[in-house]
Amino acid sequence: MNYPKKLAVGICGASGVHLALKFIEALPNDIEVFVVASKGASKVYEREKYQLFRESDLQQAILGLKRKVVILQNDALDSCLSSGSFKLEALCVIPTSTDMLAKIAQGISDNLIARSASVVLKEKRVLLLCVREMPLNAIMLQNMLTLATLGAHVAPPIPAYYTNPQNLDDMENFFVGKWLDLLRIPHKLFKPWG
Ligand SMILES: Cc1cc2nc3c(=O)[nH]c(=O)nc-3n(C[C@H](O)[C@H](O)[C@H](O)COP(=O)(O)O)c2cc1C
Repeated sequence: MNYPKKLAVGICGASGVHLALKFIEALPNDIEVFVVASKGASKVYEREKYQLFRESDLQQAILGLKRKVVILQNDALDSCLSSGSFKLEALCVIPTSTDMLAKIAQGISDNLIARSASVVLKEKRVLLLCVREMPLNAIMLQNMLTLATLGAHVAPPIPAYYTNPQNLDDMENFFVGKWLDLLRIPHKLFKPWG
C-alpha cells in the first residue's frame, strides 16, 4: 500500500488529546510510529479524563497502547526527528494547539514537535495539523492559511452528520478516518458518502 511507513505523532495541549491515542491505534502495523507529547498535552489529558483511555497519566496511556510505538521526549532536540536525513514521511499533530500552530507557522523549533514540523516542511513531506480551538481569531486563521499554502493539511476535528453518528465514538471515528484518508491509509471507520 502506498502510504507513509515512517510516521510521527505529535500530541499537544489542546482539548481532545485522547484522539491521538485513537489515531495511533488505528494505524496499520507496517507503519513505524514515533510519538512525542508536550507537557501541555499531559496537563489537558489529566484534566479531561476521557473514559475510553482510563489511565489518567498520558505517558502511561501511551505505554499501554495496543500497538508498538517509539516514545520520544519533546525536549530531545537531538533525536532522530530533528534531522531531515532520518526521512520521516509524515508528521501528524493531534490535536494541534494554537500555540504550536503559531510556532510552526513562524518557523520556531524550540521543541521536538515544532522542530519535526519545520523539518517535514523543508523536506516537502506530509504535515497534518488537527487544530482544536473555537472560535478562531484572525491570528489563528492567518497561521492556518500560511501553513495550508505551504502544503500542510489543516484538518480540525470538525463533526459531520452525513455519517449518521449514533454516539461520540462514531463521531470520533469520523475524525480519525478523515485523517487516515489524508495519509492514504485504508480504513472502515465510517461509511463514505455516495
Ligand atoms: C484543560 C486545557 C484545555 C486546553 N484546550 C486548548 C485547546 O483546545 N486549544 C488550544 O489551542 N489550547 C488549549 N489549551 C491551552 C494550551 O494547552 C497552551 O496554550 C499550551 O501552552 C500549548 O502548548 P503545547 O502545544 O506545547 O502543548 C488548553 C489548556 C488546558 C489546561
